[in-house]
Amino acid sequence: MSIQKTFSIIKPNAVKKGVMGDIINQFEQSGLRVAAAKLAVLSKEKCELFYAEHKERPFFGELVTFMTSGPVLLMCLAGENAVLKNREIMGATDPKKAAPGSIRAKHGDSMGENAVHGSDSPESAARELAIFFDKYEFVNL
Ligand code: RTP
Ligand code: MG
Repeated sequence: MSIQKTFSIIKPNAVKKGVMGDIINQFEQSGLRVAAAKLAVLSKEKCELFYAEHKERPFFGELVTFMTSGPVLLMCLAGENAVLKNREIMGATDPKKAAPGSIRAKHGDSMGENAVHGSDSPESAARELAIFFDKYEFVNL
């Protein structure tokens, strides 16, 4: 299996709570490396582009309001099987259903404020990474 890249966001609720370090530690302990990273407050336009697949869903407005409400940590995580591995470490979308020890079980506050985002396929990862990172920003592959 070759090295794969995935896109990760530490969401505003987790940045606000001061658990970025704990979350990154969990990724690193599981064999994922931070290949690129930056803190940012997302613009409404970029956030809507990123979540375009959810545009028609009833929670879309709430999701964009939350995701633009404060700083987020944008990251590229790299490693073997990074897309699936990241999804496992994150846990289920609903923190109440997330496996014990997963990031969302530990730090998620609700279905919307569930601490982290992770790409759901290599194709999504490529699309999402291209929205937020230029090629020269992958400095630790
Ligand atoms: P993500 O994309 O953030 O990694 O999460 P996911 O694949 O597990 O969930 P997805 O279905 O892609 O939904 C994207 C984000 O929308 C919010 N959401 N809210 N209120 C609701 O019913 C609801 N459902 C989804 C969550 O923040 C979810 O992560
Ligand atoms: Mg998703």
